[in-house]
Amino acid sequence: MSRFAVTTPIYYVNDVPHLGNAYSTICADAMRRVHALIGDETFFLTGTDEHGLKIERQATEKGMSPQAFVDQASASFRAAWPKLLATPDHFVRTTDEAHKAFVKEIWKKIEANGDLYEGEYEDWYCVGCESFKTEKELEQPGNLCPLHKKPVERVKEKTYFFRLSKFEQRLLALYESRPDFIRPKERRNEVISFVKEGLRDLSVSRTSFKWGIPVPGNEGHVMYVWFDALTNYMSGLDAKGVLSTFWPKKDRDATVVHVVGKDILRFHAVYWPAFLFAAGYSEDELPTTVFAHGFLTVDGQKMGKSLRNAVDPLKLAEKFSPDVLRYQLLRSVSFGQDGDFDHAAMIERYNADLGKNLGNLLQRTLGLVKRLPGGKRPMYSDPTELETELVKDVETSLVAAKAAWKNMELNRAIELTWEASSRANQYVDRAAPWVLVKQPDTKRAETVLATLLEVLRLVAVAMWPVMPQRSDALLAQLGLPPVKPEIGKDHFSTTFSPLLGGSDLPEPTPLFPTYDKDQTKALLEELVPKPEAVAETKPAENKAAEAPKADGAPKADAAPKAEGAPITYDDFAKVDLRVGLVTACEKVPKKDKLLCLTIDLGEAAPRTIIAGLALTFTPEALVGKRVVVVANLAPRDFGKGLVSHGMVLATGPSEKLFLATAPDDVAPGSALK
Ligand code: MSP
Repeated sequence: MSRFAVTTPIYYVNDVPHLGNAYSTICADAMRRVHALIGDETFFLTGTDEHGLKIERQATEKGMSPQAFVDQASASFRAAWPKLLATPDHFVRTTDEAHKAFVKEIWKKIEANGDLYEGEYEDWYCVGCESFKTEKELEQPGNLCPLHKKPVERVKEKTYFFRLSKFEQRLLALYESRPDFIRPKERRNEVISFVKEGLRDLSVSRTSFKWGIPVPGNEGHVMYVWFDALTNYMSGLDAKGVLSTFWPKKDRDATVVHVVGKDILRFHAVYWPAFLFAAGYSEDELPTTVFAHGFLTVDGQKMGKSLRNAVDPLKLAEKFSPDVLRYQLLRSVSFGQDGDFDHAAMIERYNADLGKNLGNLLQRTLGLVKRLPGGKRPMYSDPTELETELVKDVETSLVAAKAAWKNMELNRAIELTWEASSRANQYVDRAAPWVLVKQPDTKRAETVLATLLEVLRLVAVAMWPVMPQRSDALLAQLGLPPVKPEIGKDHFSTTFSPLLGGSDLPEPTPLFPTYDKDQTKALLEELVPKPEAVAETKPAENKAAEAPKADGAPKADAAPKAEGAPITYDDFAKVDLRVGLVTACEKVPKKDKLLCLTIDLGEAAPRTIIAGLALTFTPEALVGKRVVVVANLAPRDFGKGLVSHGMVLATGPSEKLFLATAPDDVAPGSALK
């Protein structure tokens, strides 16, 4: 028996559980099930990442305290995973007192070892990634984060630095000596190149907001959210009292695998081991493997936020059953590569692999067993070459499937399992049991059907990690109890050993009824998000985006917007209206109507907004005013390096504008609801 712990990333609570993070969770759950099935002692850890600027801002926007906001959002993740048959042993929250205490201890250890020092930092920060970006990484125009396509912010503040640069050589030696520390190989190479380019010391505390774990001994600082978050992998095990048994150590038979998306590999493969080294852990006391899976698209489209929210994994699981969703995700995406989740392909694959291949094999077998005299479990005797050949093929496929599961080749493992089922279907065609059951002596028919029942049993067990409920249901149809993993016992059988005949079998019921053309069409209509439901920018928003054109202010005679279909509250809530304090303002050279405003929105750095206000206001008249700003408008490039990051609201003709303003006691950054 070995110990095997698997983790998912802890999810940011500013989003709902979506297909992307459902994928990380399902992969991790399947891996844990494989190890449980082979008799390992297992632990599955997941949770939520609840601190940081992104979360603090979202709570403020919703008019909630950060704690109330994260409590409610975290609960939706906790409730989601069991609905996908993913059953963690612990759900860690970074706001748990035990987690906070654990992180502080790690901080103190690193500080005592001299790897934290105070300084001042100035750089670009992406709140979406919760990470600093180098100038080189930004997309122009507009200084956009390459991942989130949103403008980064200029951050300048006092900070604690972590001596990441000190660990460069030690990290490279680690990757060299432990080729499996980062998987898959292509990703490992990327990380090695990144580290070889040189590591800069890392800013690991912030002073401009409060929602984080205070730095021990200097409470004006909160810890960098990734420092806090990565430590969950240890604090989560510690909370359950299993850190000292599951965390790797020399001569301890324990494996820890972090399943992460490729976007967050660097944090796990560079920062995390460096933090652990600095806290005094040795090469033997690191996670075993960081496995980076790829990114999913949906029906060929990139999963932006609105598409992500339109494809609800819980709705898919409800419609198709969690097993079928798990099967599709794990089987159709090559683990470690990018992949596509295609609704139509899911139904096609369901019909082919589950309905026609495995489902038919089961129905044919059980149907023929019922035609034997007495309809009891058939007896296996006197195998011919047909059986010997099939058994050899099935065993070979299943041995390979088991090895693939252990080696984290999830899609390959499933493919090999289904190969066994395909072989059995070919065997049915060759052995023709429908002829044999009609013969007076049914000995041969019994052998063929007993062979098939045994192959079905082996397949049912081998598919348990991906489809636990259907596996149980399939075993029940074979008159067998469900899979029940036991520590120290390998239940992942790959050896053909037919049961004794004579016992009763239950009435067969179809396990994977197929969808015909009309049903498929209806399902697709129901499930595939309509283009208007996923458009990143709605027509109404486009209009708004056009309002602050070079000629500036909104048109007084613009048609009233009340026409057409009313928008929902959710539509309205997408517009981020905030109060901004104008701290500086100047004319834009050669543009009569434009002013360039510097506006404080309560963010780490003020924003630049270009507005067509110059025919009504002098720059001085605006400084000190609290105006209403559309804060989440896509940046607009006015050329010559002038990029506007928002829009100021006003009414009236260009020469006689009235600004939407707020009283002096409203804090910059306050949301309008
Ligand atoms: N909070 C951090 C992780 C901290 S772990 C110490 C975080 N959270 S997240 O909620 O933004 O993302 C979690 C996971 O979802 C990541 O593994 C990410 O790769 C995955 N996915 C998000 N969108 C995805 C796809 N479109 N496809 C596949 N997975 C993707 O990052």
